[in-house]
Amino acid sequence: MSKNDKQDKANQAPPITQMKTPKVDEKRFVLTDKVSGNEYELDLLNGTVGPSALDFRNFYSQSKMFVYDPGFTSTASCSSEITFIDGDNGVLLHRGYSIEDLAMHGDYIETCYLLLYGELPSERAKQQFAYEIGHHTMLHDQLMTFFQGFLRGAHPMAIMVGVVGALSAFYHDTTDINDPQQCMAAAHRLIAKMPTIGAYAYKYSLGQQFMFPQNNLSYAENLLYMMFAIPAEDYVPSPVMAKAMDRILILHADHEQNASTSTVRLAGSSGANPFACIAAGIASLWGPAHGGANEAVLQMLEEIGDVSRIPEFIERARDKDDPFRLMGFGHRVYKNYDPRARVLRESCHEVLEELGIQDDPLLDIALELERIAMEDEYFISKKLYPNVDFYSGIILKAMGFPTNMFTVLFAIGRTVGWVAHWKEMILEPTKKIGRPRQIYVGHEPREFQLMNARDQSDQSETKKTDWKWFWS
Ligand SMILES: CC(C)(COP(=O)(O)OP(=O)(O)OC[C@H]1O[C@@H](n2cnc3c(N)ncnc32)[C@H](O)[C@@H]1OP(=O)(O)O)[C@@H](O)C(=O)NCCC(=O)NCCS
Repeated sequence: MSKNDKQDKANQAPPITQMKTPKVDEKRFVLTDKVSGNEYELDLLNGTVGPSALDFRNFYSQSKMFVYDPGFTSTASCSSEITFIDGDNGVLLHRGYSIEDLAMHGDYIETCYLLLYGELPSERAKQQFAYEIGHHTMLHDQLMTFFQGFLRGAHPMAIMVGVVGALSAFYHDTTDINDPQQCMAAAHRLIAKMPTIGAYAYKYSLGQQFMFPQNNLSYAENLLYMMFAIPAEDYVPSPVMAKAMDRILILHADHEQNASTSTVRLAGSSGANPFACIAAGIASLWGPAHGGANEAVLQMLEEIGDVSRIPEFIERARDKDDPFRLMGFGHRVYKNYDPRARVLRESCHEVLEELGIQDDPLLDIALELERIAMEDEYFISKKLYPNVDFYSGIILKAMGFPTNMFTVLFAIGRTVGWVAHWKEMILEPTKKIGRPRQIYVGHEPREFQLMNARDQSDQSETKKTDWKWFWS
């Protein structure tokens, strides 16, 4: 093998290995219909760690009954080797490594490699991967003009959904999901171009010139550079800010089958191209119950306005008749302290110290809110702890990001997780298009009525008021 061949081999991503499948337990479960006496045998599937799952895949064909679980609170939609969460004990592992270790001792680029390829990279593999990502950060020149189609005041997440979806039109040569080389190139392009797109969305809103990515900067430094540099001045990203940014990206890199990742998997299950799937993930992330929460935290702190008003808002959060919720508190999976929040809490103090921020009224409100909520009976009994969005919102504000950019930064960090899950999903030999079922509760079959036979009392007008709850 020549020296060049060896070099090329070292530069390749690890070979794709067959995905592990859950193990069938010796125990079998029997569901008994007590009226008819019919029995349905179900396998029990075991993962490496964590809860086992009953295998309902053949249940409908045997029983003609569905399993009802809106919100998927008891449903495993896939098996995965990427991320493990133990919400009761506040544990988050990527490929077996704890999020605390990755955030304290690793960096974002090696976290990306780990999520995508399953192992931490060697020194050489890391350099090559960083080179590969660094050399895909620029956007097609014509794609830059795409931004002009948006209003200057457009929400940057709206721009992200549009521009990332449009990548499939600009990089059509990497949309064939049956070609592993194209898939890998699309994965690298997405990870590489997201900071550029996010930064340009911001620059466009300001009416400032787009700053080209710099290959001598790290991923996090480059992101800060493209966001905050201007052509007229030198800009050197502060090491503390770059470290905090890198940490925020690591902490958002993946979180197993959350709403946006499940959206990416569902969109991709039809064979849709990776750019379209990631655009779908961005759209899902935007909602305030998901990635939009960090923006909502800041809006809530502004609404509270003063420490003296906190009890009033705590009272509202406790009131069952008031839809108000304390943003940045609670999590579907963590019923303990979110381990990412613990790491970010520390970064939060480092950043504020570096920036010399001691007396920020919003920060005072945030810290007091955290203190009270952690001692309040309602929050303790419902296991509502501050989540990652609570602290990321505070740090990002201190770093100078406008609130409407918070979810964009989340999307940038999460792209690798979406791509890793998309890759896992398309490589799964038994993959099926995602197609949930439903319990139909509408009208029974009825005959079509000609116009003159219909009720003319404008029922359809009355029906429109159903939508009023949305704005109330
Ligand atoms: C994240 C979230 C959607 C999880 O929701 P979930 O798992 O479906 O939990 P539920 O909505 O069933 O909440 C369980 C109980 O806690 C209450 N609760 C949950 N989050 C709450 C909050 N932030 N403030 C006040 N009460 C809250 C609910 O009212 C519910 O009370 P009930 O048992 O009396 O009905 C929810 O905690 C929330 O809306 N948090 C604020 C938004 C946020 O920070 N999202 C970011 C998540 S990373």
